[in-house]
Amino acid sequence: MTNRLADKVAVITGGGAGIGRAIAKRFADEGAHVAIADIGSTDDVKRDVTVAGRRFFASRCDASRPDQVEAFAEGVLKELGRCDILVNNVGIYPLKPFDDLKFEDWKRIFEINVDSQFLMSKAFVPAMKQRGWGRVISLTSTVFWLKIDAYTHYISTKAANIGFTRALATELGPHGITVNAIAPSLVRTATTEASPLAEMFEALPEMLQSIKRTQVPEDLTGAAVFLASDDSAFVTGQTLAVDGGMVRH
Ligand SMILES: NC(=O)c1ccc[n+]([C@@H]2O[C@H](COP(=O)([O-])OP(=O)(O)OC[C@H]3O[C@@H](n4cnc5c(N)ncnc54)[C@H](O)[C@@H]3O)[C@@H](O)[C@H]2O)c1
Repeated sequence: MTNRLADKVAVITGGGAGIGRAIAKRFADEGAHVAIADIGSTDDVKRDVTVAGRRFFASRCDASRPDQVEAFAEGVLKELGRCDILVNNVGIYPLKPFDDLKFEDWKRIFEINVDSQFLMSKAFVPAMKQRGWGRVISLTSTVFWLKIDAYTHYISTKAANIGFTRALATELGPHGITVNAIAPSLVRTATTEASPLAEMFEALPEMLQSIKRTQVPEDLTGAAVFLASDDSAFVTGQTLAVDGGMVRH
């Protein structure tokens, strides 16, 4: 590791498991202190971060709820002093055909996948502006460019993540803050393993990716470090496909 994030403080939503946990571990290995907002256990990621010798903070926080985000942000400031890097990772992706979608499903997925991006950015960007340095990185998905059944609601949220990224980059560029997104392919996590998506682990790379193996969370961490570091200082408003060569855009 090259200590490219030495002494930075990173906030990662949904970082208790899956892609967010892998990013947290890699950030800690690169020198960052880490705060996690999650509704589930954060024991594993706490171990990863503290074994790397970094400071760790987590509180149970539903990232879609304004009051819980506010309380979490206060905890981050108290325990770690600031947030330099915000990773809007939290997201749900239940398959459901449009005919079966209820308005409640639509609203809840937008709350978790999109409102969280807004609320966390509102909580942490103002202090980044004051310091003249910051990174906002959001997880979108290659499904935005693909034809996939039963995903009207999910793809709509991932489109919103990209739109937010593109637009906010314009306002924050003058303040030394870059805003970018990462688009994975299908990634093997505990959640995808337990979903019908698991049936595509073998076929999808074979059919659609140039790199013919199933993506794992660690495949995303190099791109996340790049976008979080000074190496990407002149990169903003972009969506980087880290997908084994699935889409071209
Ligand atoms: N896994 C994939 O195949 C894949 C592919 C493309 C994009 N993505 C995107 O990557 C991101 C992470 O996906 P993942 O597969 O690692 O997820 P995951 O399901 O493995 O982990 C999500 C984490 O978020 C937490 N969480 C859920 N709801 C929450 C809430 N309301 N507030 C706070 N925490 C909450 C969970 O407890 C869990 O720790 C998502 O935005 C997803 O859309 C995933």
